[in-house]
Amino acid sequence: MRYIWETENLVKEFTLSGGLFKPKQIVHALQGVSLFQEEGETLGIVGESGCGKSTFGYTLMGLHQATSGSIYIDGYKIDPYKKRKAVQNVMQMVFQNPYASLNPRLKIHTILEEPLELDSQYTPRDRSIRVKEALEQVGLTVAHGERYAHELSGGQRQRIGIARALIMQPKSIILDEPISALDVSIQVQIMTLLEKLQALYGISYLFISHDLPMVRYISHRMAVMYLGAVMEVGSARDVCENPQHPYSKALVNMIGQLLPRAPLGEPLRGEPSSPLHPPKGCLFSARCPEAEGRCFDQRPPLKPWMDRYIACWHI
Ligand SMILES: Nc1ncnc2c1ncn2[C@@H]1O[C@H](COP(=O)(O)OP(=O)(O)OP(=O)(O)O)[C@@H](O)[C@H]1O
Ligand code: SF4
Ligand SMILES: [Mg+2]
Repeated sequence: MRYIWETENLVKEFTLSGGLFKPKQIVHALQGVSLFQEEGETLGIVGESGCGKSTFGYTLMGLHQATSGSIYIDGYKIDPYKKRKAVQNVMQMVFQNPYASLNPRLKIHTILEEPLELDSQYTPRDRSIRVKEALEQVGLTVAHGERYAHELSGGQRQRIGIARALIMQPKSIILDEPISALDVSIQVQIMTLLEKLQALYGISYLFISHDLPMVRYISHRMAVMYLGAVMEVGSARDVCENPQHPYSKALVNMIGQLLPRAPLGEPLRGEPSSPLHPPKGCLFSARCPEAEGRCFDQRPPLKPWMDRYIACWHI
């Protein structure tokens, strides 16, 4: 089967320059992430703050250079050193803060036209038709295209963020915390819009959020990340109602009362280990109630289990 995108062992390290007498430090933000996306599905990524969710989205999109590992888009391996135009026609990204991601000095229609200008097949007339279509797709009008970002509400700005992603007619959109900066009533409107666009155009979403109930609601499949690696992937329902990995269990337990049919149990103990000094063995070993023996010196690979994938020696 050909996936829209697929990553194999994706690693991203950030180097923090040390000061005088201080050595450089390496942030191990992604520690070998292998995931894929099918057509028309929503794949959710959940995990605590700092676990690498955004870094995965940025690296997949080509906004960060991967340290190692492979990215396949539409079945083709992407050369990390070449321009990633191929990626842009297949995937687009919507960011958490719509205000910061829209140039305040440009009218909305100019912002929306920008990606089309890079493609010579679009005449100026084609561009304005496409901008009008994209505005209508997100429930806005050409009049909104004449405004600047500060003349729009938060919800309208996020609709523009989505229109900008739609303009290239991508197969998949990466949504990085797309609603967490919005009021609850506006959040519902944006989620409804995303569902409608998926039903109409079959777009796939990579939905990144720390809000587990929201990810459970919108996603077909869900990946649980911890310290830069995937701990468990499966149907959103299975992972929430019957989590298997000790970390997924702890995460679901923490907010179990907000999820239908989620098990209740022990809350998560302690803080995540530092991505500057990840544990040698299983990344979750410092907090895992089931850790023993080889958990502390060998890292478990992500392996198929029933109809999911789990990284744990005990499963
Ligand atoms: N440009 C950067 N330079 C150095 N370190 C970075 C950079 N971007 C991210 N990191 C580090 O990489 C790790 C993963 O960060 P990331 O932003 O991907 O986490 P996240 O899961 O998206 O968190 P949140 O839920 O808070 O958005 C963190 O330790 C973060 O501090
Ligand atoms: S491998 Fe060991 S430490 Fe890691 S999650 Fe499984 S039981 Fe816990
Ligand atoms: Mg993030």
